[in-house]
Amino acid sequence: MLGGATAVQRAWLSGFLAGLDAGAAPAALPAEAPRAAEPLTILFASESGNSERLASDVAKLARKTGFKPKVVDFADLELADLPKAKRLIAIAATWGEGEPPARAGRVYAELMGDAAPRLDGVQFGVLSLGDMSYVEFCAVGKALDARFEALGGRRAVERVDLDLDFEAGASAWIKGALETLAPEPSGAAGPAGNVVAVDFGRAAAEPNTGPVEAEVVEHVDLNSSRSDKETIHLALAFEGAAPAYEPGDSLELYPENDPALVEQILAAAGLAGDDALRRTLLAERDITTLSPVTVERFVKATGHADARRLVDSGEVRAWIAGRHLVDLLETFPAALEAGHLGDITRPLPPRAYSIASSRKEVGDEAHLLIAAVRYETQGRARAGVASVHVADRIRDGAKLKVRLKPNRHFRLPADPATDILMVGPGTGIAPFRAFTQERRAVGATGRSWLFFGDRRFTHDFLYQLEWQDALEDGSLSRIDVAFSRDQPEKVYVQDRVWEHRRDVVDWLEGGAAFYVCGDANAMAKDVRSALVRSYADVKALSPGDAEAAVTRLERDKRYLQDVY
Ligand SMILES: Cc1cc2nc3c(=O)[nH]c(=O)nc-3n(C[C@H](O)[C@H](O)[C@H](O)COP(=O)(O)OP(=O)(O)OC[C@H]3O[C@@H](n4cnc5c(N)ncnc54)[C@H](O)[C@@H]3O)c2cc1C
Ligand SMILES: Cc1cc2nc3c(=O)[nH]c(=O)nc-3n(C[C@H](O)[C@H](O)[C@H](O)COP(=O)(O)O)c2cc1C
Repeated sequence: MLGGATAVQRAWLSGFLAGLDAGAAPAALPAEAPRAAEPLTILFASESGNSERLASDVAKLARKTGFKPKVVDFADLELADLPKAKRLIAIAATWGEGEPPARAGRVYAELMGDAAPRLDGVQFGVLSLGDMSYVEFCAVGKALDARFEALGGRRAVERVDLDLDFEAGASAWIKGALETLAPEPSGAAGPAGNVVAVDFGRAAAEPNTGPVEAEVVEHVDLNSSRSDKETIHLALAFEGAAPAYEPGDSLELYPENDPALVEQILAAAGLAGDDALRRTLLAERDITTLSPVTVERFVKATGHADARRLVDSGEVRAWIAGRHLVDLLETFPAALEAGHLGDITRPLPPRAYSIASSRKEVGDEAHLLIAAVRYETQGRARAGVASVHVADRIRDGAKLKVRLKPNRHFRLPADPATDILMVGPGTGIAPFRAFTQERRAVGATGRSWLFFGDRRFTHDFLYQLEWQDALEDGSLSRIDVAFSRDQPEKVYVQDRVWEHRRDVVDWLEGGAAFYVCGDANAMAKDVRSALVRSYADVKALSPGDAEAAVTRLERDKRYLQDVY
């Protein structure tokens, strides 16, 4: 600053500064010279978009607070670049039974493997998302946190494991993490930054778009009355415009609990006279899930000695298998206060359903396809909260609260001339009905091939007439079906993929995109492995090369799945 000053200017400045030091007049401090913003890598592993959205929230807040953030999807991570990230925030969801989200799987396995690079000098913090009702709660976030440290990274921010109601916890963690990772204040020897004081309280993460009310205008069980399944086609109308959904998106549906179960819970807790609690339990609390944390909270609230022994002995994880909250309350009777049930339970989470329609065909409606979940455990009939609410207690004219859940990783090809293959057994067919409607509406010229499967042709062929129409009008080029119980041996969609492997590989070699939707545990894995075997057979590749061919499809975003 003084480099070009004359002797007179220097003398004037010296007097001015002396006056300041004497406290003669308060004056603004000279602004600190701006320096390069501190790079921050924000890595996310996401399936249904929650971690991805939080990663972008972190980036927005980080930008406002002096960082230069870079958001990286695990799926696109070059592992060799990771040691260059001196400050690292990882946000990871857990899927399957303690597994990483599908897209993240390949890089995650590399990170856990022997060839992973050292992370000396990397400061990190992990935020993990999960669902307390799963035994492997937040397993992926926990494993990442441990792995970063084992590779030499320094845990600058303690990990937090969050349940489905993660918004407030995530927001607080993000603010704390950015404060901790923030560059040293000016003048310090630490990393350069252009931020001196940061108001972390004000720069909050962006809120999610809120739920809206929908009216049920059609409620049809698509299975025949002689089927052992119940799959409800639900058409929703909205006051005004429908949420701006695209084919591939889902709607989250806010269910209500079974009133009969609410009565059982109230009776078991000795609170049958409390009407306010009855309403709260019906619409707001998760009164089915039983996790180790639920039992611990119950013990804390009641001091029940037998339940405490279960927790102390570590047997609780085995005991809760197949049991729900009502079993806990009935097995360990205790007089509860109304507040206790609030403390023990978590908020009732919404359930996601793939949208089965295109706005280009249905206007301001949205269609869902919901399979009723009914089963028996511990000698007791159980009902899925949301699906059975829809199947049993929702009819035409009923109101439902829903929220759009976009999925930008499950989109139709941008070019409508691209061929598509769609594998969607059971409710997995839902987004492909949306795809087909959309491609019909835009006059797509690419071919489309659907693989559908269910139990029986006569009773379980969902939307059968619509597929026939689609074949006739050309919006569907080909359909192959697998009805598992129509013949002595079981036949599934993956068997059809294998059977038609020459055509499947031919389409893919010609640039087609391959979509899978539905059951994650068995079907999605079996379909992928059928495709790997198909490549090996048709193109005479080694198993390793065939695997690499399918991995390439995934990396090119031509093998896409939306599985649950
Ligand atoms: C992105 C996405 C899209 C989805 N799209 C659809 C869709 O289009 N259609 C659709 O129907 N569903 C879809 N689902 C699944 C849906 O969100 C719900 O999980 C499903 O409807 C069950 O919810 P529920 O409330 O009825 O059951 P819940 O009350 O949540 O109960 C389900 C739980 O019950 C237990 N359970 C279920 N069956 C058994 C059994 N036989 N034995 C023991 N325990 C069992 C399991 O713990 C299971 O997690 C989707 C999920 C996601 C994440
Ligand atoms: C099919 C399925 C399986 C899941 N498995 C687990 C699990 O094993 N452990 C866990 O903690 N959470 C599990 N979850 C919950 C997710 O981690 C949770 O919904 C998370 O918010 C999803 O984040 P994402 O949108 O970034 O993928 C599962 C969710 C679904 C739908």
